[in-house]
Amino acid sequence: MGVLAVARRAERLEQLATSARGSAGVIVPVVADLTEAAGIAATLAAAAGVADGIDLLVNNAGFGIAGEHLALPLERELACIQLNVVALVELTRRLLPGMVARGRGGVINIASTIAFSPVPYFATYAATKAYVLHYTEALAVELRGTGVHALAVCPGPVRTEFESVAGNGRFQRSIPNLAASRVADATLSAWDRGRTVAVVGAVNRLITWFNGLLPRAIVRSMMGKLARPTTVSLPPGLESHR
Ligand SMILES: NC(=O)c1ccc[n+]([C@@H]2O[C@H](COP(=O)([O-])OP(=O)(O)OC[C@H]3O[C@@H](n4cnc5c(N)ncnc54)[C@H](OP(=O)(O)O)[C@@H]3O)[C@@H](O)[C@H]2O)c1
Repeated sequence: MGVLAVARRAERLEQLATSARGSAGVIVPVVADLTEAAGIAATLAAAAGVADGIDLLVNNAGFGIAGEHLALPLERELACIQLNVVALVELTRRLLPGMVARGRGGVINIASTIAFSPVPYFATYAATKAYVLHYTEALAVELRGTGVHALAVCPGPVRTEFESVAGNGRFQRSIPNLAASRVADATLSAWDRGRTVAVVGAVNRLITWFNGLLPRAIVRSMMGKLARPTTVSLPPGLESHR
């Protein structure tokens, strides 16, 4: 079984390919920036080169950006939407027709537990994950009877480089972080059981269930208190609007 692994850092991908050699099968590095059209094109070209077609698409690449929306760099927020939503939709839309034609395979989209509620000070990222969750659930229904499946995975905080990229330290550490291997195992298990949505971890399942019982106004206000950075800064001229 072969895997096309896509990311921007070539040396990391090479290490991954080397470590997998002889055990996990063949990992083929594809160096591409999925926020760029050229990166999507390179990824699709690599996929087109797979003899029997792609059986499983895992849309995992994603990042967050924490802080007061009006103080965050707009380009970075737009890049977040581009990667977490636009690239995910384009890869799904372009690779799934081949799977449907073959009558097997599917897509695993990595959402998050914050997909279930608005999160002030993490507004754009949380909204991208809400998109991923709803899109995947809707797609799963449309795919019924085709032999192709869609799964949305919703982890809570996970020990990865996510926090150092997103800068969401306090919020990230508000509940115990899971190991990435735990999320991977839960993902594969949910896939094997044909699930459509998998919230990973008992605490995360409990929080998600409880949030669903509360009025939205309480949930968004509670999330705002949890995610509010200790120091917030608005751009010059907007301080009086706080
Ligand atoms: N960690 C958490 O607490 C947490 C919780 C819930 C959901 N998630 C979701 O889990 C997924 C994986 O995140 P992670 O926690 O593993 O974070 P991570 O350690 O920062 O990993 C992100 C991965 O995406 C790749 N990537 C980032 N930007 C890319 C781009 N423009 N083009 C191609 N690849 C790109 C990175 O490789 P390069 O940098 O080399 O490109 C890296 O492999 C994300 O969708 C995230 O939103 C994470």
